[in-house]
Amino acid sequence: MVKICCIGAGYVGGPTMAVIALKCPKIEVVVVDISVPRITAWNSDTLPIYEPGLDDVVKQCRGKNLFFSTDVEKHVHEADIVFVSVNTPTKTRGLGAGKAADLTYWESAARMIADVSKSDKIVVEKSTVPVKTAEAIEKILTHNSKGINFQILSNPEFLAEGTAIDDLFKPDRVLIGGRETPGGQKAIQALKDVYAHWVPEANIITTNLWSAELSKLAANAFLAQRISSVNAMSALCEATGANVSQVAYAVGKDSRIGPKFLNASVGFGGSCFQKDILNLVYICECNGLPEVAEYWKQVIKINDYQKSRFVNRVVASMFNTVSNKKVAILGFAFKKDTGDTRETPAIDVCKGLVGDNAKLSIYDPQVQEDQIQRDLSMKKFDWDHPLHLQPMSPTSVKQQVSVTMDAYGATKDAHAVCILTEWDEFKTLDFQKIYDNMQKPAFVFDGRNVVNAEKLREIGFIVYSIGKPLDAWLKDMPAVA
Ligand code: NAD
Ligand code: UDX
Repeated sequence: MVKICCIGAGYVGGPTMAVIALKCPKIEVVVVDISVPRITAWNSDTLPIYEPGLDDVVKQCRGKNLFFSTDVEKHVHEADIVFVSVNTPTKTRGLGAGKAADLTYWESAARMIADVSKSDKIVVEKSTVPVKTAEAIEKILTHNSKGINFQILSNPEFLAEGTAIDDLFKPDRVLIGGRETPGGQKAIQALKDVYAHWVPEANIITTNLWSAELSKLAANAFLAQRISSVNAMSALCEATGANVSQVAYAVGKDSRIGPKFLNASVGFGGSCFQKDILNLVYICECNGLPEVAEYWKQVIKINDYQKSRFVNRVVASMFNTVSNKKVAILGFAFKKDTGDTRETPAIDVCKGLVGDNAKLSIYDPQVQEDQIQRDLSMKKFDWDHPLHLQPMSPTSVKQQVSVTMDAYGATKDAHAVCILTEWDEFKTLDFQKIYDNMQKPAFVFDGRNVVNAEKLREIGFIVYSIGKPLDAWLKDMPAVA
């Protein structure tokens, strides 16, 4: 029986390994982590992450061929294939701070593998890492070689949160990069055999190590670039009377461009896009390619611009001040169907509004109050932009931010509603009831284009929708971008 161990029981390690266990009943899969609360949660009825379909997959194989453990060394020692799926955040200090990936967790995992291994192993990079990381990992693994053969593979993960299980069941592609030696090719085949249990062979791509590592950064950069492109267009749409949804539809009908990932929004969030683009920028700079670095930086600059533009629009529309006004925030997660708030645009928008002294009342179906408080009081690293970066003090979070159990509580007596996550339940809210309970004039600022603006206007709301023709009111109160 092949034994797999995955180091890192996070958003990637947990779901990915659960699906491998489900699809490969003859493989034993153990997911290990240094975080005791995380492993305890994986072994309980309340999993540590919210992901549609995940509970069901875990229930089917946990205790049979899927295990979660904190006994990291034991399970690494016993495994034939070791996936490393630890976090690789942006460095916040030292060389490359604000851009380079922090490989501390990766390096410590690699050193531990080298220490505890007594048999040959395939070590798989599942985390997103800078191109050429495998070279460094090889050095660590073979430095004190006890005659053990380690083969390093790059197998980046392309799942998106909120759709992770579907993405893992039917991946557009699985990418495996390895050394072009007989040993490297044998390792690639071994990993291919795992995925071949459910992924058609044509969808399993094999490349050299560096192509696989770089493809992951490239894919995220291209995806984020599409959003910044459509968001840049949204600003021009508002200035000219064009409608960004119509423009995106017309542009996306070109089969060379395609219709997906063209939804204008308050900005992209999530743990990957910004981090991976900054990493790409740093790699370009280190390779003497400042023009290429500058090109990709713009994707993040437009994203920051989009968030500030939204805040400015809210403040300008409400007579240039939100001081002491209650503003309801609907949605705090970085996208629907997840409780994840990493780099969510809601953090910057909320800090911006609080900077103008607003009183916020926040509701999100999956994000708990303590998480919101932590996010707003956390210091955010400034990569090179002056966006509302100051953390809120715990006192001002307490005084200016409250978290409610539903959208109706959040909007009661509010002057404005800001929709920051595209949760489906926001589409079916009783907006007449919300309007009746709000201060007048009542505003809706839809940062995700999820509500029917025309219907809301009929009720009496003043509505701002990203990239859509502006109400007369909003035209009269122009926001300075
Ligand atoms: P995460 O923070 O949710 O999980 C990482 C886990 O690794 C944590 O639970 C942490 O305790 C554990 N860990 C760290 N060092 C360890 C060590 N030495 N030994 C054992 N456990 C250790 O991160 P994530 O979102 O799962 O991302 C993991 C990697 O996958 C990152 O490189 C990320 O860029 C990449 N990725 C993430 C996504 C996503 O949607 N989140 C998608 C594709 C790729
Ligand atoms: C992303 C990549 O899609 C995935 O392949 C990679 O493995 C990890 O990073 P994720 O961040 O989980 O996945 O979600 P994604 O669906 O890509 O959304 C990222 C952000 O972009 C969200 O804030 C989302 O709301 C925003 N977005 C997405 C838009 O604003 N408009 C769009 O059209 C699509």
